[in-house]
Amino acid sequence: MIKLDYTNVSDKIIGDEGLDIISCFNEFAPKIREIITNLNMNKDKPGQWLQWMNLGYNEETVWYVKEFAAMVDGRFDNVLVLGTGGSALGGLALSHALLKPYWNLLDKEQRDSFPRIFFLDNIDPDEISGLLDILDLKKTLVNVITKSGSTAETMAQFMVIKDKLEALLGDDYRKHVVATTDKETGILRQLANEEGYKTFVVPDDVGGRFSVFSAVGLVPLALVGVDIDEIIRGIKIMDLNLKNTDINNNIAAQNALIHYLMDTKKDKYISVMMPYSSRLKYIADWYVQLWAESLGKEVDRAGNKINNRPTPIKALGATDQHSQIQLYNEGKNDKIITFIRVDEFDNQLDIPNVFEFTGLNYLAGKSINQLFNSEADATKVTLCDYKRPNVTIHLPKINEYYLAQLLYMFEMQTAIIGELYNINAFNQPGVEQAKNYTYALMGRFGYEESANQLNEKLNNKVIL
Ligand code: PA5
Repeated sequence: MIKLDYTNVSDKIIGDEGLDIISCFNEFAPKIREIITNLNMNKDKPGQWLQWMNLGYNEETVWYVKEFAAMVDGRFDNVLVLGTGGSALGGLALSHALLKPYWNLLDKEQRDSFPRIFFLDNIDPDEISGLLDILDLKKTLVNVITKSGSTAETMAQFMVIKDKLEALLGDDYRKHVVATTDKETGILRQLANEEGYKTFVVPDDVGGRFSVFSAVGLVPLALVGVDIDEIIRGIKIMDLNLKNTDINNNIAAQNALIHYLMDTKKDKYISVMMPYSSRLKYIADWYVQLWAESLGKEVDRAGNKINNRPTPIKALGATDQHSQIQLYNEGKNDKIITFIRVDEFDNQLDIPNVFEFTGLNYLAGKSINQLFNSEADATKVTLCDYKRPNVTIHLPKINEYYLAQLLYMFEMQTAIIGELYNINAFNQPGVEQAKNYTYALMGRFGYEESANQLNEKLNNKVIL
């Protein structure tokens, strides 16, 4: 199992900036027990948005995903994923972590005949055009993913690609499209029905940022040969562990409580996610979305205006030691840093003794692995010297099983801290507002009133 080490948030290590962990755990044990019990009791209730807790048990979906991957095996050189936010970040984070580094630059044999994979999660015209210049669409499978079925970014990308695919392939273009969307509603579902696309379902009551273990993440991952059975095994074992209502035996509850108390008692509301692994760098992006969209809420469940402030930041060790760590050590003491450490890398890379009798002798004969670990240890100890709280999550290795545990743990941690804040961690009114304004500005039918108000604000320079 992955492990959480919270030694360095203790007051024994960082003095007044830290917490008396044992008494905090004792004090909050009943509240945590209540939260975990309620989450598990409510997970099947419609409208609670807790269906993500059941995704590890959705054998039918796993079976269909694997069947589809087997069916298209060998037919495509590229997979192109269209989606944004929660519809893209999980697949991007896991594929980047689990595939061999520089996957898209490897030849077919090095990729074990699996396709390359590209994620278009933005609408930069230069990026899209650049990708289309290099991609052979005749050998590309397009997975368009949108729960709502209407997100402007995703659907605009899809319109551009569909046009090009159809021009190349005529009616056969349909065989190059797989749509992942709501089972009944939304424009993409309607189009899929009319055009006859292969489809997968984003289950009800699973929000975008909690959807990585649904078809949203599993389809692209299976297409490039990721072992989704191992992902499921990882979710299940972690789910079993996190059903434990005793905070002393539940790492998601522990980390949720630590972050909650650091914010509310110690004024440390910024959560820095810093993996010491380039392969995990998009896991930090995924976490940032999960934390920000779930916890940054205007009102609590009682309707009180609270403008909740937990603020996630992504960092990468060791690179960001040379950019952000100065701030984290000496700047305002308002952060808690989470390190993700990999106990065993796939490769051991020795540093050869190529420059004799120089100041570099100390590196010769050591390994890059040793240097990486020393950098991480050095950063951790320096933070403690400056009395900055930090926790470390240990992954025995980077593989499907441990990464599934990690992401599922973060989802549960987010759900638990949401309850501690007494907020709805599963809606995103601030995101919807911006989406609606975009529809209005782009002239979507039904958004005329909003468009008038917006144009008035823009023209009167109330905003800008
Ligand atoms: O987490 C969320 O709800 C959002 O980030 C959505 O995933 C994102 O806005 C994309 O929405 P959709 O899947 O409807 O296109």
